[in-house]
Amino acid sequence: MKPDLVQFRSAEEKALFVRHMFDRISPRYDLMNRIMTLGQDIRWRKLAIERAQLPPNARLLDIACGTGDLAIEAVRCRPSLIVAADFSLNMIQQGREKAGRHRIIQFVAADGLQMPFRDNTFDAVVTGFSMRNVVDVDAFIREMARVVRPSGRVVILEITPLKSSIMKRIFQFYFQRIVPWLGGMIAGDREAYTYLPQSVEVFIPAEELKKRMEASGLNNVRYQKLNFGTVALHWGEVPT
Ligand SMILES: C[S@@+](CC[C@H](N)C(=O)[O-])C[C@H]1O[C@@H](n2cnc3c(N)ncnc32)[C@H](O)[C@@H]1O
Repeated sequence: MKPDLVQFRSAEEKALFVRHMFDRISPRYDLMNRIMTLGQDIRWRKLAIERAQLPPNARLLDIACGTGDLAIEAVRCRPSLIVAADFSLNMIQQGREKAGRHRIIQFVAADGLQMPFRDNTFDAVVTGFSMRNVVDVDAFIREMARVVRPSGRVVILEITPLKSSIMKRIFQFYFQRIVPWLGGMIAGDREAYTYLPQSVEVFIPAEELKKRMEASGLNNVRYQKLNFGTVALHWGEVPT
């Protein structure tokens, strides 16, 4: 049986769906991540922060931060400031509670497509598992590049569609059958976790995302695949 399709008539409808969905699932979001990835996401986040190459006393932005796991991971690099921004108020509320003692993290409500930050504010920007959810990938990348200083890094961690292979079939089975079931059982929200595999299916492949980052003006764009090619970590530099 195929899961029901989540369909959108417009970009606005998708943005609203995404924001409300994350507001709803926020209390169980972290638990679902740990279960779905068998704890592997912790390792991917560490790598993402390493790729940001933060200088001493860095200013870091985690955009579409959700519950702030990337921001929290970055604390060990001893930056001077971490801004964690998202348009789901419930997600950032969860993050705020979790990050409690890490005063260095400032949680902010913001739309990643129109960030309330001046040009060149940050030494680096990271984003995790957000690209599939934004309604304009190119505008989102351009905004990330805009707020980072010259030669600072833009880092993107995201699930990536597989080319046809046995592995693709295995992951399709896992994502399309097991994940929605887990989402229903654990997060009480089967719809949200039906949207997840669909958003991966229609998302651009890693090579295409690299090209889009280059087209947005980033230099030295590279990527590495993780977890049998199901996750991609991209990074690029703002031109000097
Ligand atoms: C799958 S969650 C990822 C959360 C977190 N970055 C992580 O690594 O776990 C996607 C997040 O992107 C946020 N998001 C999607 N579109 C956004 C936008 N235009 N502006 C700000 N946040 C956005 C959602 O609210 C959600 O918290």
